[in-house]
Amino acid sequence: MNISLRTKLVISFLAVVIVTGSVSTLVGVNLIGNGIIREEQDRVRTNLYSAREIYQGELKEIRDLVRLTAVRFFIKEAFLKSDLEGIEEEHLDMLTLTDKNGKVLFRTSNPDVYGDSKAEDDLVKSVLLNEEVIASTQIISREELEKEGQDLAEQAYIKFIPTLNEKPRPEKEETSGMVLKAAAPVMSYNNELLGVIYGGRLLNRDYEIVDKVKDTVYEGVKYKGKDIGTVTIFQRDLRISTNVQNLDGNRAIGTRVSEEVYDQVLVNGMPWVGRAFVVNNWYISAYEPIKNINGEIIGILYVGLLEEKFTDMQKEAMEIFLSIALGGMALALIISYFLASGILTPINRLVYASKLLAKGDLTQRVKLTSKDEIGKLAEAFNFMASSIKERDDLLKVRTQQKIQESERLASLGRLAAGVAHEINNPLGAILIYSNLLLEESELHDPGRENLKKVVRETIRCKEIVRGLLDFARKTEPKKELTNINNILERVLSLIEKQALFQNIKITKKLHPRIPMAMIDITQIQQVFMNIILNAAEAMEGKGSLTIGTQLLKDGRFMEIGFTDTGCGIPQENMKRLFEPFFTTKEETKGIGLGLAISYGIIKNHGGTIEVKSQVGEGTTFIIKLPVEKM
Ligand SMILES: Nc1ncnc2c1ncn2[C@@H]1O[C@H](COP(=O)(O)OP(=O)(O)OP(=O)(O)O)[C@@H](O)[C@H]1O
Ligand SMILES: [Mg+2]
Repeated sequence: MNISLRTKLVISFLAVVIVTGSVSTLVGVNLIGNGIIREEQDRVRTNLYSAREIYQGELKEIRDLVRLTAVRFFIKEAFLKSDLEGIEEEHLDMLTLTDKNGKVLFRTSNPDVYGDSKAEDDLVKSVLLNEEVIASTQIISREELEKEGQDLAEQAYIKFIPTLNEKPRPEKEETSGMVLKAAAPVMSYNNELLGVIYGGRLLNRDYEIVDKVKDTVYEGVKYKGKDIGTVTIFQRDLRISTNVQNLDGNRAIGTRVSEEVYDQVLVNGMPWVGRAFVVNNWYISAYEPIKNINGEIIGILYVGLLEEKFTDMQKEAMEIFLSIALGGMALALIISYFLASGILTPINRLVYASKLLAKGDLTQRVKLTSKDEIGKLAEAFNFMASSIKERDDLLKVRTQQKIQESERLASLGRLAAGVAHEINNPLGAILIYSNLLLEESELHDPGRENLKKVVRETIRCKEIVRGLLDFARKTEPKKELTNINNILERVLSLIEKQALFQNIKITKKLHPRIPMAMIDITQIQQVFMNIILNAAEAMEGKGSLTIGTQLLKDGRFMEIGFTDTGCGIPQENMKRLFEPFFTTKEETKGIGLGLAISYGIIKNHGGTIEVKSQVGEGTTFIIKLPVEKM
């Protein structure tokens, strides 16, 4: 896949922002959500305490009322007349007097019914036994309720309304009622028990407590038209007093608690705090058991906070977080886009310049002033381009020089060859005739010495002419397959004994497996001889000469090197080195044909000959000859 750098940059930027954004959104929203829920659960727990306080306060009020009534009643001495009419209490749904055996003497709520025994009633029984005031929540059966008043039995009756998550029960209705009840002893002057007064308030359909809790604790605050806080009193699992509303807006009397809460609170007797689906909304809820005088769980007190407000808060937080993350993403997108452009534009310029450079436009330079890595890259590019150009220019000059050089030598060669050819024949004639004259002359002829000189000089001339012809490559080489190392060894063995070489240290570095070459042995021997003699002369018979052979990396050429520690060659002589008759030596010592002949021979073998020299340090001649392919 071919993804551009820009896409890569933008994608990686986005990926980072998306990952960090979503993680921080998730974590943040969760933290906030958990924080809110925890706080609300704490709050609902304290609300439950307050509700309990109010509930207990109500019970205490009833207890005080009943106790005071018992005392007042006694003071009035109405007891003997069994007349309670004067003390009817509007706060109480029932107020009943029994004798000291628990037999009902008078019911303010239902005066027609009396004479029945209340001795088995838990509270009455306790007072008869302990002669002390007692108050508690109590469940009273329909039968007993009817005695206290038909209207009470009616008020207590509640039909079950099917509720989500309720615990299935065989019953369809509730006939008994839950009562806040207190009982107090009526004592004589002598502190003897005369009887018991008990009074109570039916909680079924009585909304005073729950509304009081709601108003005190939640101050009636509403959220989206719904009460933020709700309170319920359950008779067992049944809502008998509540301000939780049905969908139709009525109090949800007759609905029942969820199975989960039922098991935890009613069965296990533990409080329950958490999310709960109450009738038709989610609430953060707290439930705790209501017990009777015997400690049996007979109901539940509940408070709940509408969860919607907090889920909305959470949603809001999520929205804020998300919009921050989205903003971050947009910002990252823009930044990465510009950043990518900032990087890519100069890179594209570099790429473009490189392409032009590769096509041969060596004048390409990139104008970049930035100090960063790209600036350095551009700098490096420019440096590279100018080095290439420099080298290219140098190469051009060098090749030009080489071409000129070989052309010059070639034309020189043609000239020399022409001259030599012309001179060769007359020289031959001179040699023949002077030799004839020499043979014919008398042994003591005074001209004989002169004739000898003529013959000698003519031979010398002939040699020069042959040298010139060699330089001009006019003598055809007789090539044969030869080991160069062997030729070198032979040349060295010939010259080593000469006086000139007595003080020269010769070091051989011959490649042991040098390939064979197709050469004219005599000619190449002559070349080696010339170069070695030159070296010895340059060192004036004192110094060291290193001779080495090696195979070039490409395997096509072998290299023969001669390094001396002689006087070296000044720069101005370098150009003319291979010219015929160029010499720095005295006339008797050299005529300047050695290197010219060598040049011609090596050229004729398809090789090259190069010189490197440093005045005062020494000179190296390098001959390259083609390897014969087997
Ligand atoms: N190894 C070397 N060190 C220094 N100078 C050298 C060396 N080889 C050659 N030369 C210089 O190059 C010149 C030309 O050399 P070349 O062999 O062609 O002629 P020559 O030695 O002078 O005479 P000839 O070889 O004909 O006797 C020499 O005169 C010398 O100045
Ligand atoms: Mg020479």
